[in-house]
Amino acid sequence: MHFFTLFSLLFSLTCVSNAQWPDPRPLTGDTAVHDPTICKDNSGTYWVFATGTRLTIKTSKDLTNWTSEGLVWPAGAPWTDQFTLTSNGALWAPDCTYIDGVFWLYYTASSFGSQDSGIFLAKSTSGLPGSWSNEGLVTSTSTANDYNAIDPNLIIDQGKWYLSFGSFWSGIKLLNLNGSNGLPTSQAVTALAERTADNGAIEASVIYSYNSQFYLFTSWDNCCQGVNSTYNIRVGRSSSVSGPYVDATGVPLLSGGGTLVLGTHGSIVGPGGQDIITDEVGPLMVYHYYTPTGSFLGINRLNFSTGWPVVV
Ligand SMILES: *[C@@H]1O[C@H](CO)[C@@H](O)[C@H](O)[C@H]1NC(C)=O
Ligand SMILES: *[C@@H]1O[C@H](CO)[C@@H](O)[C@H](O)[C@H]1NC(C)=O
Ligand SMILES: *[C@@H]1O[C@H](CO)[C@@H](O)[C@H](O)[C@H]1NC(C)=O
Ligand SMILES: *[C@@H]1O[C@H](CO)[C@@H](O)[C@H](O)[C@H]1NC(C)=O
Repeated sequence: MHFFTLFSLLFSLTCVSNAQWPDPRPLTGDTAVHDPTICKDNSGTYWVFATGTRLTIKTSKDLTNWTSEGLVWPAGAPWTDQFTLTSNGALWAPDCTYIDGVFWLYYTASSFGSQDSGIFLAKSTSGLPGSWSNEGLVTSTSTANDYNAIDPNLIIDQGKWYLSFGSFWSGIKLLNLNGSNGLPTSQAVTALAERTADNGAIEASVIYSYNSQFYLFTSWDNCCQGVNSTYNIRVGRSSSVSGPYVDATGVPLLSGGGTLVLGTHGSIVGPGGQDIITDEVGPLMVYHYYTPTGSFLGINRLNFSTGWPVVV
């Protein structure tokens, strides 16, 4: 083989692999996040809340330039200490929903690899530090459960409220909530997705409704290893919020199914911890990805014209 032919082949292979997904849109300002969630308020401001001690808050008017606003709990959240096992331990993977002038924020308190986990609810009308009320514990798990109460996501369907959540063990679950106070009507759970491969690594569930279908997005494999992270974003679809969900090849999500939406590409490593909203332009996905210097906010649009989400 001529050197030039080899070079062309390598060059085209490189281009093909890099062209699988577009890069996140270029951002400016403070974009260091892990497990971001996004809301848009009545004034048109975008709000991102993310994992961290006391939970971090960032805003942007244009989805491009991001400014840190401070913390959800500037004075701490001692009611979470029983799950973080330390004073002012990191709170994880918040989930924001903005309804009629109110931010509803579900978030997790746990410690790495532990099933002693709790999901809490906070509310605010301004979103700013110091404005949040503690609405209490939503659900919790211990080693007596076969699932783990982390990574909450609120979905509202025809006026009914549900919370998907879960990680590892027996996977992703769904609770029924009372839409008046955002708390469970019962602790009975419905199973939505489970895998046995890779130690059952499935978490960060998000249910997104589009064109009368429900899309269950999850993150697979390993987060939190810097550039060694193998996180990737998967999806399945159902005509009902409570499932059954199947992937694009028909494999049930309860049997390890999940169609790849976004994985490592080029310098964008381990994308996951996603959230999806609809704004005036259409479906919008936020996630984190790793570089050698940290984890950062990724933003892309999704195109559902084939019936399955494509990152654009
Ligand atoms: C980003 O927003 C901040 C706060 O509003 C502002 O001070 C800064 O000039 C903006 N930067 C750019 C590049 O627009
Ligand atoms: C829902 O919450 C409201 C407000 O706290 C309460 O009045 C109502 O009884 C609850 N309904 C159910 C079914 O739990
Ligand atoms: C990634 O893995 C390499 C090889 O095991 C290790 O040397 C390095 O410290 C790891 N980096 C991170 C950020 O975990
Ligand atoms: C979505 O993708 C389809 C197929 O590539 C394209 O025709 C359509 O214009 C795209 N829609 C948007 C809103 O970008």
